[in-house]
Amino acid sequence: MWVNGVARLNYLSEAGYYSSMKKKKIGLLYGGRSGEHEVSLRSAASVINNLDPDKFEPIPIGIDKIGIWHLQQRGSFRSIPGQGEVLEIIKNSRPLALVPGKGFYQGEERLEIDVIFPVLHGTFGEDGTIQGLLEVVDIPYVGAGVLASSMAMDKEKAKILWQKEGLPVVDFLVVRDASAGAVAAIEQTFNYPLFVKPAAGGSSVGIHKVDSHAELKPALADAFNYANKLLAEPAIDGRELECSVLGNHRPRAFPPGEILPQHGFYDYNSKYIDPEGALLAVPADLPAETAKLVEETAVRAYLALEVSGMARVDFFLEKKSNKLLINELNTLPGFTSISMYPKLCEKGGLPYPDLLEQLIELAMESHAEKNRLTYSFE
Ligand SMILES: Nc1ncnc2c1ncn2[C@@H]1O[C@H](COP(=O)(O)OP(=O)(O)O)[C@@H](O)[C@H]1O
Ligand SMILES: [Mg+2]
Repeated sequence: MWVNGVARLNYLSEAGYYSSMKKKKIGLLYGGRSGEHEVSLRSAASVINNLDPDKFEPIPIGIDKIGIWHLQQRGSFRSIPGQGEVLEIIKNSRPLALVPGKGFYQGEERLEIDVIFPVLHGTFGEDGTIQGLLEVVDIPYVGAGVLASSMAMDKEKAKILWQKEGLPVVDFLVVRDASAGAVAAIEQTFNYPLFVKPAAGGSSVGIHKVDSHAELKPALADAFNYANKLLAEPAIDGRELECSVLGNHRPRAFPPGEILPQHGFYDYNSKYIDPEGALLAVPADLPAETAKLVEETAVRAYLALEVSGMARVDFFLEKKSNKLLINELNTLPGFTSISMYPKLCEKGGLPYPDLLEQLIELAMESHAEKNRLTYSFE
């Protein structure tokens, strides 16, 4: 049931009534040209397993590492010991084509898809590019739009917007090359230990904790493999908190969780390789007023970037000052069955299948809202 005009229109016309009763076809985009390809295969498996089969029909579309889209006949699952199920990408020789304003085609055949769920993380998925493509095709899609996706992906731009709203962020310096001047600027601004990270990226790829002068240049050199712009930040000694936010204009936040890295920081290894690398506390053990502050700040951070659909907002709670600092906002957070985003929603009273249904409804709402606007003057 959609809360805007679309549902009512459907209800009034016979064909519309029929279509609102029909199962919605959900195109699942997964895989992708990103360092987070493998994570996406796991997220996609969980999404398919949790879509209510009475209401939705999944249409899996795997994007291989070169970027070619392959329609999957049926989802083909594979179990990886210790990591759960992945949705495989079976390549075929009839790649999908997108036709602007028309939809998805395989050869001459048009695919019927009601909503796209981009279960893609990182570059070419979370950064606004896929969202732009889906806008051109004119199809509803789950999650943030073009502008919010790309602003959230750029850690510098996101922080500038949050600072403008008076929200607390981790201090940062933008670094555009690994010259002696850049090294000097970093050292004048921050003491060791400090962090160096690609401005756009994810999954901790290219992120370094730097303890001394000798480590700085190699860290910069490595990070520049992943982005042309880096951030240097003070290393925050604190707790890592994460908050799930869901909604369009009036988003709600769920009680926060905590990441408890077991060695070092929350790096790629502890995120995806070593199951014991980090523990998740759901919810975090926090005084009620701190949890409330996290939720309120998460909603403000979400609105400041004009996010729709969902986001996971990540924080540090600094030990020495007890200050809450925003680290980053992820518009397509991990969606595996053990991922923080769905777990926090579940703990907060929204089971995974209901969460998916709400995300699909929010996508339809956003799309209907855009279609209400006038784009031409005669
Ligand atoms: N300034 C910082 N101080 C302390 N730890 C940090 C800092 N920046 C990043 N980290 C650690 O690195 C991890 C990944 O960094 P993050 O900025 O979240 O990038 P990504 O987008 O790859 O998740 C964080 O979860 C945290 O453990
Ligand atoms: Mg992160």
